[in-house]
Amino acid sequence: MGNSLKLENLSKNFVLRDRVVNALADVNFEILENEFVCIVGASGCGKSTLLRLIIGLEKDYEGSIQIGGVPIEKAENEVGMVFQESRLFPWLTVEQNVYFGLDERAISKTEKIRVAREQIELVGLSDFERAYPHQLSGGMQQRVSIARALVNNPKYLLLDEPFGALDALTRINMQQEILRIWQEEKTTMILVTHDIDEAIFLGGRIAVMSNRPGTIQKIFNVELPRPRERSDYDFIAIRKKIYREFFQESEKPFSYSI
Ligand SMILES: Nc1ncnc2c1ncn2[C@@H]1O[C@H](COP(=O)(O)OP(=O)(O)O)[C@@H](O)[C@H]1O
Ligand SMILES: [Mg+2]
Repeated sequence: MGNSLKLENLSKNFVLRDRVVNALADVNFEILENEFVCIVGASGCGKSTLLRLIIGLEKDYEGSIQIGGVPIEKAENEVGMVFQESRLFPWLTVEQNVYFGLDERAISKTEKIRVAREQIELVGLSDFERAYPHQLSGGMQQRVSIARALVNNPKYLLLDEPFGALDALTRINMQQEILRIWQEEKTTMILVTHDIDEAIFLGGRIAVMSNRPGTIQKIFNVELPRPRERSDYDFIAIRKKIYREFFQESEKPFSYSI
């Protein structure tokens, strides 16, 4: 439908010397434009691999990935990505880092600077255009990464545990920020997290992945109005359901960790 991102029968194996690691098996998932989807799963279940396939960092896989019916390989710049560590160039300023994210569209340098500054403003860092990454806090560095990922105006933004390295308060602040950006920019968000509360706070749908080989085990709809309150009865009820889904899956002691 429309410009939906469609994953069909997606599987990915890694070959390690004489061993095959089956990282993803038969992932089927359709994400609609404008959605905010969160993906949760235990460490090693294939969450990052899934995002790397979508952004095109891994080209060797089985199955298909399409946006609006077009194979992902031909849908350039429709997808941006934010990693857990900010991956900024330490020798470039905030403005230069974001500028660097621009593709080779034939626009003038002045226009490019304008676009970069607009993104920096969107993430609330206008006063820091000339700062270097080491002069910024972890939360601010992630804001720059978000600006850089959005600079080509992608339809989809993939976020791989983007707030995982931040302290609890900064993390909550960044969750509010990403919601605001989602509401302002209408970018479809696909956020991977190991934090169930984060997923419930943000997601319209939450996909729970099974342990290796990773696949979509269950999808929860979260119909609570935003902004969501973590102490609300309905919030806690969804949290219980999701935890139950995790426990049910493994007979072993709870293996859910970073
Ligand atoms: N480049 C790689 N080579 C070999 N195995 C890999 C590679 N990348 C990931 N894997 C394996 O695939 C599985 C899924 O990894 P990953 O997607 O990073 O999980 P997650 O992000 O959910 O923690 C893990 O068992 C991991 O060891
Ligand atoms: Mg990962």
